[in-house]
Amino acid sequence: MAAAPSSPLDNWWRDAVIYQVYPRSFADGDGDGTGDLAGVRAHLPYLAELGVNAVWFTPWYLSPLVDGGYDVADYRTIDPAFGTLDDAEKLISEAAELGIRAIVDIVPNHVSDQHAWFRAALAAGPGSPERELFHFRPGRGENGELPPNDWPSQFSGATWTRVPDGEWYLHLFTPEQPDLNWAHPAVRREHEDVLRFWFERGVAGVRIDSAALLAKHPDLPDFEEGVDPHPYIDQDEIHDIYRAWRAIADEYGGVFVGEVWLPDSERFARYLRPDELHTAFNFNFLACPWEADRLRGTIDDTLAEHAPVGAPATWVLCNHDVTRTVTRYGRADSGFDFAAKAFGTPADLALGTRRARAAALLTLALPGSVYVYQGEELGLPEGDIPLDRIQDPMHFRSGGRDPGRDGCRIPLPWAAEESHYGFGPGAAPWLPQPADWARYAVDRQRTDPESMLTLYRTALRLRRTEPGFGDGPMTWLPTEEGVLAFARTDGLLCVVNLSGRPAALPPHERLLLASGSLDAQGQLPSDTAVWLRA
Ligand code: NOJ
Repeated sequence: MAAAPSSPLDNWWRDAVIYQVYPRSFADGDGDGTGDLAGVRAHLPYLAELGVNAVWFTPWYLSPLVDGGYDVADYRTIDPAFGTLDDAEKLISEAAELGIRAIVDIVPNHVSDQHAWFRAALAAGPGSPERELFHFRPGRGENGELPPNDWPSQFSGATWTRVPDGEWYLHLFTPEQPDLNWAHPAVRREHEDVLRFWFERGVAGVRIDSAALLAKHPDLPDFEEGVDPHPYIDQDEIHDIYRAWRAIADEYGGVFVGEVWLPDSERFARYLRPDELHTAFNFNFLACPWEADRLRGTIDDTLAEHAPVGAPATWVLCNHDVTRTVTRYGRADSGFDFAAKAFGTPADLALGTRRARAAALLTLALPGSVYVYQGEELGLPEGDIPLDRIQDPMHFRSGGRDPGRDGCRIPLPWAAEESHYGFGPGAAPWLPQPADWARYAVDRQRTDPESMLTLYRTALRLRRTEPGFGDGPMTWLPTEEGVLAFARTDGLLCVVNLSGRPAALPPHERLLLASGSLDAQGQLPSDTAVWLRA
């Protein structure tokens, strides 16, 4: 099959707009209530019209879907709920014909407990070579009844599960996601082969799940708060894995984006050295509250930490794991923190939407690449899922405290008047859609000049035609308190007013785009952003 539409020298990824498709909730082509690859193929023209450069697909592989597909049973097979390998190949090439590159999601830290390797390991028993591919250990306590160590989970709950023969295995996430032993050469070989498998099928990039967790301290020692290094986060050995991966990506002109949640910017930047990952998600920006000083600080820190390694920044406002942007920005605490998630947190959606519109212009004007999570361009809020319909293991493992992540994974509304808002032609969607979502439907927004979709389409078009946006320098301009203003090259200015009062605009020749109307005095109202030509 044709190679990715890029050459090793092509730097498209340094300022791409990458759209995240959560296939289960994007569009249902076959009418079974679950989104699928046929649904994505049918809506490729929508993505082309929106103007994105690439699409990142969350896992579409064979999976029991215990963790939404992040429990992979076979990397070389598409889950029948989503389609076939042939569908995936067609999707990749049809997208390429429209100028859209494909990025697949690889989950190297763990596999599904239904993966052939884990089933073989269970069957083979203690001491077997099959068990060495995972972290099997005897328990502690008199009869091995206690877990081998006290590691905290990435989801709440236990990190060890005991099997009938008495051994325990490690899983940083759910028991259905056993962690692989990355000190084992077969684990490395297998993943290198999986990378080649997908690069051979024309994908332009790979998103790496839980990218800082793969390497474990060989002794699996107890966790001691504040003692470095952490026994399983960001172990130094991990970089060797990514150097080997980079050599493979370079053969194909492919790129990586790492899911690296690390507060320490120097440690974070190590993943972005020239012979490792090309990019990593900017979670500090995603978690930052809607406050001018905090945002400016995060932007400065981001650019400063990327500069020494020469990597471009990424800008992310939300994804399939976090509260949707318009809801988060409509809350009293507009930052994001997994630990603070709770049922019933009030949100002013009109305020959140105004801010999300301004945030879209802010992020799309910053130097680097931008991620847009499906539905963000429609201004979808977080949905409330009835308790008996929640599917996310994060909810159950928190003992019901955490509402989970289903509220940001609700199937998309495509057509206001159709059943299931046009998500699919048959069965009800796998998660219920709120009763008032007709107003967010694509067909309503497409022709509405004031809609979020129109704002995104216009901004993406300008970003494509104005070479001053994307990769390159930015300079802060002096402003009143609570206002962010910066210049890009070619006389492009972005001004965002986060103060509680109207702000004067800097001198300019032309207003290119505004997230909301200026007031009668031509001033920028609060929670509004503009792009100007100076
Ligand atoms: C991060 C993914 O984004 C999330 O959805 C998943 O639950 C965990 N990694 C575990 O794979």
